[in-house]
Parts: sequence; structure tokens; C-alpha cells
Amino acid sequence: MPAFWHWFVAAGTILFIIWCVWLVSWSAKQGPQGKADEALVGHKWDGDLEEWNNPAPKWWLYLYFITVFWSVGYLIAYPGLGNFKGVLGWSQTGQYEAEQQAAADRFEPIYARFAEMDFAALASEADAQKLGASLYASYCTTCHGSDARGAPGYPNLTDGAWLWGETEQQLTTTIGMGRNAIMPALGASLGGDDAVDNMVNYVRSLGGLVAADDAAGSAQPMFATICSVCHGTDGTGNQMLGAANLTDEVWLYGSEPEDIRNTIMNGRNGVMPPHGDLLGANRTKILAAYILSLSAAD
Ligand code: HEC
Ligand code: HEC
Repeated sequence: MPAFWHWFVAAGTILFIIWCVWLVSWSAKQGPQGKADEALVGHKWDGDLEEWNNPAPKWWLYLYFITVFWSVGYLIAYPGLGNFKGVLGWSQTGQYEAEQQAAADRFEPIYARFAEMDFAALASEADAQKLGASLYASYCTTCHGSDARGAPGYPNLTDGAWLWGETEQQLTTTIGMGRNAIMPALGASLGGDDAVDNMVNYVRSLGGLVAADDAAGSAQPMFATICSVCHGTDGTGNQMLGAANLTDEVWLYGSEPEDIRNTIMNGRNGVMPPHGDLLGANRTKILAAYILSLSAAD
């Protein structure tokens, strides 16, 4: 802090302590000091209950002095007087860094051991799973839920259906670099409400939610022209683009006709934020293996 504030804080603190000592000593000398007529303050309750003006007991007084001495000792040992760092050399950042270092010393060898392990083996290693679970709890539950089953717009990580893939490379990229899915708004390209309705029907028939009737069938050529670029001709999706598989029973944004209509009319833009800087490569790998194990267990 600037010199002025350093002196302001330091001088203010010292003056205040001196004032406390003076105040406690001064008030200890007050009271009747043997003069009987000053012994009563003059307050009276319930007729005969009166307040006496006796000095505080000595032990009470000593407690005050002890706290004052304690504060002086504290201010010598620890930072408190302006810029004075205290003779112990303790600091908040120092403590934080020491704790970080202690954690790193403790965990880095474990991380390093896991980092060398084969990915599939890591996904069934008990200690790695425990570590993965705690990393998941700290970084991922806000969006994917504490049970990893997600919510509309936030994928369920336990269902074995993957927008972006389940290999080590794909999962570590998803977690480390993040993902940005772009499903464009295509209502206008389809032309008109009926065409959109038919497409909704067609998509639902791909997913086995309705039987493919004529209305659905009439959208098939349109699907082949517009949608297959990303979702594939058979609608099974494309993990390079995060384009959903439309033929399974998993629906990120819901399977009701309105949900699918909404997706087609307005587009979707699911964003998985990057966590690589936060986690580092070793922890990203442990977490990826943990995520893989979630769907294997299901
Ligand atoms: C701010 C919210 C948010 C947080 C935090 C978040 N995610 Fe995600 N994640 C998403 C969204 C949204 C998607 C879907 C992106 C899309 O639509 O393609 C996603 C997708 C994923 C996928 C791809 C799923 C698939 O089907 O391919 C994985 C794996 C994943 N997240 C793991 C994690 C892990 C592990 C963490 C914790 C380090 C995490 N996420 C934290 C929002 C989040
Ligand atoms: C440019 C590539 C692209 C095109 C073209 C495209 N989509 Fe998509 N679509 C995506 C992506 C990427 C997602 C995933 C969005 C997300 O995760 O936020 C998606 C998601 C969807 C979903 C949501 C699936 C779910 O699980 O909720 C539906 C339905 C869908 N698309 C239908 C269509 C239809 C119908 C067309 C053609 C009219 C189409 N898409 C064209 C890329 C595309």
C-alpha cells in the first residue's frame, strides 16, 4: 500500500492500542474509592433493587490487559501494521502457494503414474476413478448434474450415446478444448410450415417414435439434401461436428414434436467450455477415463 496509508494504518493502530490501555487503567481507578455516598449510582428497580458503583473485579481487568498484550504480540509476529510484514514472514499468498505446492507434491506423482497408464485400464482403476469422481464433482456437476445424467441441452454422460465421441482423443479434446455445436436454423430453407411439420415427422420416424407415414416420407429428399451433410444420409450423425444421432432414443433437446420443431426453426448451439487450462493434461485424462467408465457401468 502507498506510504501515506501505511503510516495512517500503522499510527492509527498503535494510537488506538495506547488509548485502550489508558481507558482500561483510567476506568479501573473510577468508582467510590471508599466514599460511601458515591457507592450507589441512583438507579432503582422494583422498589429496592439498586445499582452499585463498584470497580470491575481484578481478573476482569487483567483479561483486558492480556488481550492488549496479545494484540501487540500479534502485530509484531504477523502482518497488520500497514506494510510491516511481521517477523514470522507469514502471508496469505505465501500460505496459499505452500498449500498448492504441498498438494502438487502429494498428487503429481499419482497423476504422473496415471498419465502413463493405458486409457482403457485407467477407466477401471479404482484410485483413478475416485480421483475422477472428485474432479467431476468440483468442475462438472453445475452443468451435467451430480449424477452426470445431464438436463435438456446438457448431455447425459452415462448413456453411452456420444455427440463428440468416446475415444481417449475425443474425450480429452472435448474436456480440454471444449466443443461448440452448430445446428443452423433451417426453417426457411425447408420452406413453409407444412414442410417443417413433415420434417419433424420424418426425424421422429428416424428415432422410431412414430411410424414413417407418407408425410414423413415426403421430407426424406429434403433431409438428404439439407440435413445429411451433417447428420448423415441415414441420420446417425457425425461426431466430427457433434451432429446428433437422430436414430437413437437419446434426445438432447427433447423428443416432443415442439422440441424438434424448435431445433429446426431456431437452430441449436450447445457449448461445452474448455477446461484444459484449469485441469492440465494429466487431470484431463483422468477425468476423461472417469467419464468413459460412467457409461460402461450403466
Ligand atoms: C457450463 C456448462 C458445462 C460445464 C461446466 C461442463 N460441461 Fe460438458 N458439456 C456442456 C454442454 C452444453 C455440452 C454439449 C455440447 C453440445 O451441444 O455438443 C457438453 C458436452 C460434454 C461432453 C460431450 C458429450 C458427448 O455426448 O459427446 C463431455 C464428455 C463433457 N461435456 C464432459 C464434461 C466434463 C468432464 C466437465 C467438467 C470438467 C464438463 N463437461 C463441464 C456443458 C458443460
Ligand atoms: C451444419 C450442420 C447441420 C445441419 C445442416 C443440420 N444439423 Fe441438426 N444438428 C447439428 C448439430 C451440430 C447438432 C447438435 C446441436 C447441439 O448439440 O447443440 C444438431 C442437432 C439436431 C437435433 C437435436 C437432436 C437432439 O438430440 O435433441 C435435431 C432434431 C436436428 N439437428 C435435426 C436436423 C434437421 C432435421 C436438419 C435438416 C433440416 C438438420 N438437423 C441439419 C448440425 C446440423
